[in-house]
Amino acid sequence: MNTIDKFNSHVMQSYGRYPLVMEEGSGRRCKDENGTEYIDFGSGIGTNSLGYCDEKWADAVCAQVRTLQHSSNYYYTKVQADFAERLCGITGKKSVFFCNSGAEANECAIKVARKYSFDKYGKGRHTIITLVNSFHGRTIATLSATGQDVFHNYFFPFVEGFVNVTANDIADLEAKLQDDTVCAVMLEYVQGEGGVNVLGQEFVDAVYDLCAKKDILVITDEVQTGVGRTGKFLAGEYFGKKADIVTLAKGIAGGLPMGACLVNEKCSGVLTAGTHGSTFGGNPIACAGGLAVLDRIESSGFLEEVNRKSEFIKSELEKCSEVEYITGLGLMVGIKLRSKDAHDVAQKALDRGLLILTAKEKVRLLPPLTISYDELKDGLKILIEILEE
Ligand SMILES: Cc1ncc(COP(=O)(O)O)c(C=O)c1O
Repeated sequence: MNTIDKFNSHVMQSYGRYPLVMEEGSGRRCKDENGTEYIDFGSGIGTNSLGYCDEKWADAVCAQVRTLQHSSNYYYTKVQADFAERLCGITGKKSVFFCNSGAEANECAIKVARKYSFDKYGKGRHTIITLVNSFHGRTIATLSATGQDVFHNYFFPFVEGFVNVTANDIADLEAKLQDDTVCAVMLEYVQGEGGVNVLGQEFVDAVYDLCAKKDILVITDEVQTGVGRTGKFLAGEYFGKKADIVTLAKGIAGGLPMGACLVNEKCSGVLTAGTHGSTFGGNPIACAGGLAVLDRIESSGFLEEVNRKSEFIKSELEKCSEVEYITGLGLMVGIKLRSKDAHDVAQKALDRGLLILTAKEKVRLLPPLTISYDELKDGLKILIEILEE
């Protein structure tokens, strides 16, 4: 039986997959089982931030595999302490809870926000405002938080206590903040799955100002935007904001399962022993991978280069008449097309050796942060040829 048939016989069919079997990767290119090579403008959905099998990252990961792969959270590990210290230092946060994915990081944020409010104000102040068109994950609570009706199906009953506000609609925000049961507002600065939509500064200012007045926490879901993706370590830096709670995952450990929920001083004592946990959370191998990612992202000029590459992509795409407009920040790029269907474009790109993504009606690019200009030129040539056909 070939891989695809075997796979389809035994793996639940919860994804729409392209019919190709990935076998290996190096740098920003990967190969399928037939040896066909692809330039990767998707990074495994923003996750292989340093590309495939980066040498220093692989060395750090393999060294940890050979030293201690796991020990459980009954004990301390130095590598988890080192990673926590670095992440808190870079983000200006007090403490972190480690988990394994974006959804879990958001679950943790929801629990911290609700318990913060419970500890201080008692029962009933539990509502979390999220934005229409947001995406926060696939667990029942994070699906409930996700502001898209299409996800609110089949799995009833969903978790209560989530209310949606239209992004950039300050009047809607003000109206929904009248409710005294609200304990937090959760937002993505750039809605990734929702179509690479960047929030307006005025709306973000309003969220922070209004929340500060009522001790309502601001949670920023930086699962997709965080760890250098937008050309800053956190997208919040573009808006001049520091959230009470920030969630990270995707690119944080260079392709290993890792999520983090970082909190400020005010929230750092909320989770006490026994109130939250994860068997694999803070796994030493993932932490070692994460430290290697931080070493690279913090190296001199790295994020400036991410922004220059972003400008390069935009300037090349803007020459193409099929491109109506471009959205996003840094290497999180959304491309609104005039007439072509983004999914058809993605299929054609794949057929010609380029991996790209879509987000709603847009083409979405999330190339590895380490991508070279030559690789960008090669990939953009393929994409623009398809768009101009
Ligand atoms: C903003 C955001 N939050 C949460 C998630 C969920 O992350 P995960 O799939 O790692 O659970 C995603 C995934 O696309 C995301 O983009």
